[in-house]
Order: sequence, then structure tokens, then C-alpha cells
Amino acid sequence: MLVLGIESSCDETGVALYDGVRGLLAHAVHSQVAMHEAYGGVVPELASRDHIRRLVPLFEQVLAESQCARADIDAIAYTAGPGLAGALLTGASFAASLALALGVPALPIHHLEGHLLSPLLAHDPPAFPFIALLVSGGHTQIMRVTGVGAYELMGESLDDAAGEAFDKTAQLLGLGYPGGPALAKLAETGKPGRFKLPRPMINSGDFMFSFSGLKTAVLTAVRERALTEQDKADLAAEFQEAATEVVATKALAACSVTGLKTLVVAGGVGANRRLRERLNLEAGQAGIRVCYPELALCTDNGAMIAFAGALRLQAGLVDARAHNGAFVVRPRWPLTTT
Ligand code: KG4
Ligand code: ZN
Repeated sequence: MLVLGIESSCDETGVALYDGVRGLLAHAVHSQVAMHEAYGGVVPELASRDHIRRLVPLFEQVLAESQCARADIDAIAYTAGPGLAGALLTGASFAASLALALGVPALPIHHLEGHLLSPLLAHDPPAFPFIALLVSGGHTQIMRVTGVGAYELMGESLDDAAGEAFDKTAQLLGLGYPGGPALAKLAETGKPGRFKLPRPMINSGDFMFSFSGLKTAVLTAVRERALTEQDKADLAAEFQEAATEVVATKALAACSVTGLKTLVVAGGVGANRRLRERLNLEAGQAGIRVCYPELALCTDNGAMIAFAGALRLQAGLVDARAHNGAFVVRPRWPLTTT
């Protein structure tokens, strides 16, 4: 069973080939970061146009790398949402047309399901059930996962997502776009504790988050006086401490409440070193195993979409419309309704 995966929900074009027996055969990603940098954020129309330019060459590239032919493909999985409507449409229409031409099913995949299942691509994959912590640019969610397609939302952010908070804070500190990795890098040279930032909702007794107050606290500190380079690094370090403390505390509390001993971490913020350090230490003390996708698969990619498609096929979760050339995009789509 060879599944082609297509990801185009935001500013990365990802294409991959996953084989049910041989595993991931090839994956290629084109990042649009350099193109959007000048605008300080993703410009949706430019994103769509660039996806269109990249999809075919990336498809040819993964075919060549995996030494597969088009006729070998058994199914095409594509990100149907959530994401930017125009960007989603490019991948969805490419996937549906190719599927129609090849006479294979086109499978609409939820972007977060791709992230959530991606740690299962690792060599020693975790078994169901587990707690999943999804921390991306658009979402911060804690899910109880009992199987493929069985996701129970335990809590999520009431406002900004964790990645969004990293990005907005980075912007306040003049670090540009995309801010998350740049802020994490700056934090390494800073000292947390000099500036005092809140740990929003850490004692709320549930699994909900709020990051907009944290961002506002950074804004207040930035406005109070002109910051030196060291001030900025210290503020970045304190922000990273605050954000990762809240996220790690709630994720581990979800494990404790449910009695589950496996925590899966997915989404771009899952690449954050300080978050990993915290989770590994605290989970270790609580006898909880923490699983991450490999670093290259933390941010958006086609491999996670191909893999989620393959698991859905195996589980018999295929939409009857998969064969008729129709395609759907759902810019807003709760994961619990997949
Ligand atoms: O999952 P992802 O690639 O795209 C979405 O689905 O949103 O996540 C992107 C987010 C961005 O907000 C980015 O700043 C953040 O993940 N991110 C990080 C790091 N690497 C990426 N945030 C903190 N530390 C990092 N090392
Ligand atoms: Zn993502």
C-alpha cells in the first residue's frame, strides 16, 4: 500500500510517499519563509501561488528519490483543513485530479491528525491509548487518543496558540518572522527570572490555556523602557520559561488524571528544546514516556499526511466520496469530528 501525502495548509509545501510495509520512502518540503519574511507574516495569496508552483516538482522529486512510478500509488492523502482556504485548495485540487487520473482514492486528512500521529512514524512507536499535546502556530490542545480517528479533546487555548504567542512575542522583540525558533535561540543567551511574567491559568484545575495575557505582559515590559540586547534575551528566556512551564504542567496533569503513561508531543512548538527538557525531566520523574516526531517532522510536512492516510485506510476509515473526483477543504475543522 503506497500512499502519496500532500500538505499545503499554510506556508510549507510538503509531498511524501509512505509505504505500509517499507515505511517512509521519501519526503520533500519547500518552505516559503524567505518569501513571506518581507511582510512579517504569511500572505495568503502568495502562499497559494507558491504552492501551485512547487507541487509538481516536489511530486516528481519524491517519485525519483523513492524510485516509484505514478502507477505504484494506491491512494493520495491531502490536508483538507484546518488552514488557509486558498492554500488548502491548491493541494486538494492537485490530489483529487491526480487521484482521478490514476483511479485511486483521494483521502481528506485533518492537519492536526497528521501532527498527532507523526510520532508513530518513529522506530519505537508508542501504543494507544496516549495523551497528545498539540502545540502549533494555530492550535494548543490536549487530546486523549484511544486509536486512529478516536480523539477526545480535554482542553485547548481560549485565545492565542502557543506558537502564535512565541511568534508575537518575537515580533515585539524585533525578531521578525517566523519568530518561534528565533525567540528560542535568543532565550538561550538570556537569564529567566530577571523579568517576571505570569504563568496564565497554571492553577485553573483544567486543561485550558490562555496566552494572550503573557504576550501583553511582554508588550508592557517592552514599552516601559528601551531594552538593551541583554534585556531582550532575558525577556525571551523568561517568556520561554513561562510558556513551557504552563504547557508541560498541563500535559503531565492530563496524564496523571487519566492514568495514561504515554505522552505524545506534536506541532512546531514541540521542536522547542526547553519544552523537551522540561517534559523529559518531569515525565521521567512521574514514570511517563514522552514521544516526539523526529525534528524534521515536527513542523509541517507531507510525511505526516501520507502516514495518517495510510493508518486511516488500514482502519477502514475511508469516505465513500474518495473515488469520485470531489474534494473538500475545511479551513475551520475541529479534530474531534474527523
Ligand atoms: O506545526 P507548525 O509547523 O505549523 C502549524 O500548523 O501552525 O508550527 C509552527 C509554529 C510557529 O508558531 C513557530 O514559531 C513554532 O511552531 N515553532 C517554535 C519552534 N519551532 C517552531 N516555537 C518555539 N520554539 C521552537 N524551536
Ligand atoms: Zn502544522
